[in-house]
Amino acid sequence: MDRQILAYFELHPNEYISGEQLSEKLGCSRTAVWKHISALRDQGYSFEAVPRRGYRLTGVPDRYDLAELLSKLHTTTMGRTIKLFDSVESTQTVAHKFASQGAAEGTLVLAEQQTAGRGRMGRSWHSPKGKGVWMSLILRPLVPLQFTPQLTLLVAVALCRAIRQIEQVPVAIKWPNDLLIEGKKVSGILLESSAEDERLKYVIAGIGISVNLRAEDYTGELLEKATSLRITSGAEWNRSELIRTFLEQFEQLYTLYHEEGFEPIRVAWEALTISLGRPLLARTTKGNVEGVAESIDEMGALLVRQSDGTLTKLYSAEI
Ligand code: BTN
Repeated sequence: MDRQILAYFELHPNEYISGEQLSEKLGCSRTAVWKHISALRDQGYSFEAVPRRGYRLTGVPDRYDLAELLSKLHTTTMGRTIKLFDSVESTQTVAHKFASQGAAEGTLVLAEQQTAGRGRMGRSWHSPKGKGVWMSLILRPLVPLQFTPQLTLLVAVALCRAIRQIEQVPVAIKWPNDLLIEGKKVSGILLESSAEDERLKYVIAGIGISVNLRAEDYTGELLEKATSLRITSGAEWNRSELIRTFLEQFEQLYTLYHEEGFEPIRVAWEALTISLGRPLLARTTKGNVEGVAESIDEMGALLVRQSDGTLTKLYSAEI
């Protein structure tokens, strides 16, 4: 039925087709039409919906061209091997499997779509087909296990720089790992590590970037808090260029981190964040902390000055 609906839209390019017209043509209910349109949106098709006029097909799915991506990538380790999938539950799960089987550092697991994308704190991550960058990078850092929070901040700096390098959008980092544009989330980072006897075996850096999603690709509730690069800039972005630019930025910072430690990353992070110097309320598993964030420390923890003068270190919180 999805194919029949598409064929009908292709026969009427640029035209609005009402739900009623579609339901008559296809011999199904209007609810069924709506369900098929929504299934097609999940597959990467875009439709504009205008009350009393109907639907108009406005975009077809974008697909990665791996050969082109690799031919323009200027890194030595990061992304040299890319495992591309059409649809997976979560690139994190796939990357864990590859990493535990010995995949090399820098191996990238990339998917057009995730059906059960994971966010922090057990939340889900909306990952429709062909509209965003949903990827997990396998890392084998030569640092002790307790240093891994620093890597979250490193990824955030690389991502923020990559987006700004491509276009001057006002993207900034919200501690610890969100990228926001004008107060709305455009990207999230999920770091998961595997250790044995307190020794770090590998880290999976999961990165979700809402690239070419349109307003109609979000549920109303999500749209209040989330945005995409396309919505904020008004134009389609090249997802491969974004991945390449990120990998190049990341590799430079990761090398610097191994050579000089966290300090240069901390300084770069502070220059790109919106989380410092303003009042905040942080929800932690041990209760709420209210105050003003002053800086991040050498481990990547946020230092919050409370009204009674005490300085609290936050390693993980919702702010
Ligand atoms: C967050 O902000 O809560 C983190 C979101 C991380 C989403 C990415 S998308 C690629 C990778 N695979 C997942 O299932 N999650 C991460």
